[in-house]
Amino acid sequence: MKRKRVASRLFNIFLLAVLCYLILTSLSDRNKTISIREVPQIYINEEDELFVNTTGCRISATKPLSLYALSFMEPIEPVLCRMEQLMVAETIGDRNYLVRNISRHGILSWRQVSCIYREFVRVDDAHNKYISLKFFKLTDRTRYLEVGTGLQHIRTWCWVDFGRIIFHDVMYFLPPLPQATNRSTEHQKRKLSVMILGVDSISHMHYMRYFHRVADFIEHLPHTEFWGYNRVALNTYPNLIPLVSGLSVSEMEASCYHDELNFDKCNFLWNEFKRAGYSTIFAEDTDTAGLFIYRKRGFQKQPTDIYMRPLMTEIESHSLYRTTFDLKCTGHRLYGEFYYDFVSKLIPHMERQLFFSFLWNMHGIHDVFPYAKFVDKDYLSILTRLHEKGVMENTLILFMGDHGLRFDKFARTAPGQHEMSQPLLIAIYPEWLKRRFPLAMSNFERNARSLITTFDLHETLKDVIHLDRLTDANVRNRTLYLTNERGISLFLPIPQNRNCKTAEIKQHYCLCNELKSVSTHESAIQEAASFAVDRINELIKPYPQCRVLSLQSVRTAYRAKSSTYRGNYRVSQVMVRLKTTPGDGNFDATVLITMLNGEKTDMKLGGPVTRTDRYAHQAYCVQNYRIEMYCYCL
Ligand SMILES: *[C@@H]1O[C@H](CO)[C@@H](O)[C@H](O)[C@H]1NC(C)=O
Ligand SMILES: *[C@@H]1O[C@H](CO)[C@@H](O)[C@H](O)[C@H]1NC(C)=O
Ligand SMILES: *[C@@H]1O[C@H](CO)[C@@H](O)[C@H](O)[C@H]1NC(C)=O
Ligand SMILES: *[C@@H]1O[C@H](CO)[C@@H](O)[C@H](O)[C@H]1NC(C)=O
Ligand SMILES: *[C@@H]1O[C@H](CO)[C@@H](O)[C@H](O)[C@H]1NC(C)=O
Repeated sequence: MKRKRVASRLFNIFLLAVLCYLILTSLSDRNKTISIREVPQIYINEEDELFVNTTGCRISATKPLSLYALSFMEPIEPVLCRMEQLMVAETIGDRNYLVRNISRHGILSWRQVSCIYREFVRVDDAHNKYISLKFFKLTDRTRYLEVGTGLQHIRTWCWVDFGRIIFHDVMYFLPPLPQATNRSTEHQKRKLSVMILGVDSISHMHYMRYFHRVADFIEHLPHTEFWGYNRVALNTYPNLIPLVSGLSVSEMEASCYHDELNFDKCNFLWNEFKRAGYSTIFAEDTDTAGLFIYRKRGFQKQPTDIYMRPLMTEIESHSLYRTTFDLKCTGHRLYGEFYYDFVSKLIPHMERQLFFSFLWNMHGIHDVFPYAKFVDKDYLSILTRLHEKGVMENTLILFMGDHGLRFDKFARTAPGQHEMSQPLLIAIYPEWLKRRFPLAMSNFERNARSLITTFDLHETLKDVIHLDRLTDANVRNRTLYLTNERGISLFLPIPQNRNCKTAEIKQHYCLCNELKSVSTHESAIQEAASFAVDRINELIKPYPQCRVLSLQSVRTAYRAKSSTYRGNYRVSQVMVRLKTTPGDGNFDATVLITMLNGEKTDMKLGGPVTRTDRYAHQAYCVQNYRIEMYCYCL
């Protein structure tokens, strides 16, 4: 026990050293990366084209290949995990096997290799427990080791030379396939499965820059590409909570997470689909950054029928190692590859039953600008298989992001700022939906050019549970009673006068505000910047461990082209992009300035102040996700 503690302390010191090294190298690399001049010029396409042109909102068309973006599209080498994949998991008949995967170079003699596998089961979102331990050797003659039947999670590792680990990975065997149900029965034909196929941090423009193969493929499928999809808040959690719950974060937390123990009491979409007889799936390729995990407590009770989390928990605490760009590997696979494999293995299950799946991918693409280039082929392969296996015949797929790239230099350019609020959303659906529900689907397609959010997606998916709501007669009646709410099913016509206010999008994230750049020397801009820094300092006041920040410089500034009027009062909106000290934090703030007869009467923030660089190592002393981005620890 004691030796273990010493070892773990040594290991921590080692980790700390590695961390320091990484921070130092990333600092010294900073000047090497593209030195892009932050030219304060108007970036929006000045031509007439608009993505959205309604009475409530105009969103200018932007271009994926601006000069700025091009300078970030550096060539990138494929990223590899160095460990060889000594074994793979395979189910043959109804039995599960670990199958020796012949080493590429044949350098090893199997006789020197000793292995252990342990089967584990989920306890909660942070813990697994082992239910077996077996020692084994794979000889030249035996390629297959039988490990059991049905759903199994297994961690296995092998070593040579009295303890040098040469292989360490987590394997899974899915539950047996359900009996093939008869698709031609009336019951099945009336229903539609749902797949939320999410890619974190992918903006619409980023998709257009990199997902060429996927885009070509989707072109030949019935689909709708949405041009007015706007984020409602900063990052993944507050943008996806409306999707899965129909509520804002504060409403959801007040209703079912007030004791902050876990999310078990919350009613998320998968619960509703489950009650309607669907199988449910939840998978994300991350441990620490999970939707319900980052600074949260996750679930005590497993939320969906198929759940990837126990695998990620096990990998993260045992088999994880890192490679180029600090990307994470297990066995021979990057986290992303592990996830694509998991999703592919689910396809036979999706073929045979109604399902609701929430699939979310972030590895690599969340952090490395040109990484999307690799992801293109992975998604092409997933979509191709869903098509070939007939899953698409029965499924509404939302291929979507939550926001654009939020960190590092691209986010600090003008198009990067815009793209952060403009995530990707493409719906892919079977042709018969248009035949059966012509009015609903014509609304759906018209909404491709409306201002929409994840609140609307929630209402849309609720309609999928009760498809009879979509008949022409019902849609006509529902349209009569339609009010300009924040969440409206996309099968209904989004009102022309919807704007960011009625859609509950904070000004800071609102794409309908056309911005023009203004001089950072204007006194109104300098005042707005100081005002924003003062607001930050107010927020961190209760945390004495955070240093008070002061304004270092205003990098760029924009003013909304039009002001709003309230009686004699005029409200103008500016956005300042500033740097603070200590810590060199990069922040964006939208400030609303109220004027009366040319005199300023009031200033307030149009949404939270947001950050566009990484801060984790500065904010180690706070555990509060609302505060951490502002905190430079003493
Ligand atoms: C980056 O370049 C600037 C100006 O060329 C220089 O002042 C600064 O020290 C450099 N920073 C690093 C980390 O090399
Ligand atoms: C936007 O819509 C208005 C009203 O329908 C129309 O007059 C105008 O030409 C449209 N603008 C563009 C750029 O399409
Ligand atoms: C076997 O290992 C090689 C190299 O590690 C890998 O490229 C290959 O995909 C593995 N085979 C399977 C079936 O996973
Ligand atoms: C499905 O149903 C049809 C007609 O009811 C029948 O001809 C067919 O054999 C069934 N297929 C299976 C796999 O049960
Ligand atoms: C139309 O919708 C209203 C309000 O939802 C409802 O009360 C009414 O029964 C509906 N009428 C028909 C014919 O479906």
